[in-house]
Amino acid sequence: MSAPTQTGPLRHFLQFRDLSSNEIQYVLDRAQLIKNKFKRYQPHHTLHDRNLAMVFEKASTRTRVSFEAGMYQLGGSVIHLTTGDSQLGRSEPIEDTARVISRMVDLVMIRTFEQTRIERFAAHSRVPVINGLTNEYHPCQILADIFTFIEHRGSIKGKTVAWIGDGNNMAYTWLQAAEMLGFTLHVSAPNGYKLDRARIGNPPESILREFDDPMQACQGAHLVTTDVWTSMGYEAENEERRKAFADWCVDAEMMAVAAPDALFMHCLPAHRGEEVAGEVIDGPQSVVWDEAENRLHVQKALMEFLLLGQLPGN
Ligand code: CP
Ligand code: NVA
Repeated sequence: MSAPTQTGPLRHFLQFRDLSSNEIQYVLDRAQLIKNKFKRYQPHHTLHDRNLAMVFEKASTRTRVSFEAGMYQLGGSVIHLTTGDSQLGRSEPIEDTARVISRMVDLVMIRTFEQTRIERFAAHSRVPVINGLTNEYHPCQILADIFTFIEHRGSIKGKTVAWIGDGNNMAYTWLQAAEMLGFTLHVSAPNGYKLDRARIGNPPESILREFDDPMQACQGAHLVTTDVWTSMGYEAENEERRKAFADWCVDAEMMAVAAPDALFMHCLPAHRGEEVAGEVIDGPQSVVWDEAENRLHVQKALMEFLLLGQLPGN
């Protein structure tokens, strides 16, 4: 006997657009309900006896703690694997790993390198697979960021989000979210680090506007957000990137040209004095700690949705 498989259709969350706009809205609403209960110390054990396997091929603080704490809070349990302490580090094919793990657990979260690696895992998995970050996307983070925006400012539809810095996994995920939820993404990245047109096609100006000057990208934005200059896996380019990104530091001057009530977000970990000035990330417009906390609540809602589908109220 193998572990029981899903009753409904198998769903994964490998990219933001793997859920429909309505499903994203459901997960965000559900996350609010789950957060409210959490704040009142009310138990919410909808995943009683379910087991999550987490596979980390890159380092993590927030993703690990939020998934691990979240699954226990839902009444389930967690297994934590890394490349170094599993056979993945000794070249066991990802397909075989997927076949085996997914016979034993109910849900899998993976943080890895190429998106194709998580896609290969999902293609051979009997249970839902969640992207906990790849080189290409970080969909759980954007779910938390949008939840945080709504919590502070209401609907994100029709608003402007300024992305300052690397055209990386976060930026590509913001673009998917803009297309699905109807807001405008301003992107300013140095030459050589812009979004790849071959990947994104030609989104209309209502969805994506690119700027050489980061100050222009921040103009009138309702949210200014950035990320490290060097993402995990690109450390060999560190010195080259430090030079290229020197003018892409979100500082008080940039925040001053954004909307007067603009928020600042950063997925963290942050490097004060590089991609963001200390006075911005530690200043009154920054909501980075709420943003980090909200990973917990949205991922609990996401895990519930992937395993149980849409549930009625409380
Ligand atoms: N933002 C984020 O994913 O953080 P970790 O790398 O600490 O998981
Ligand atoms: N873009 C960063 C995000 C870290 C959470 C990286 O991939 O390292």
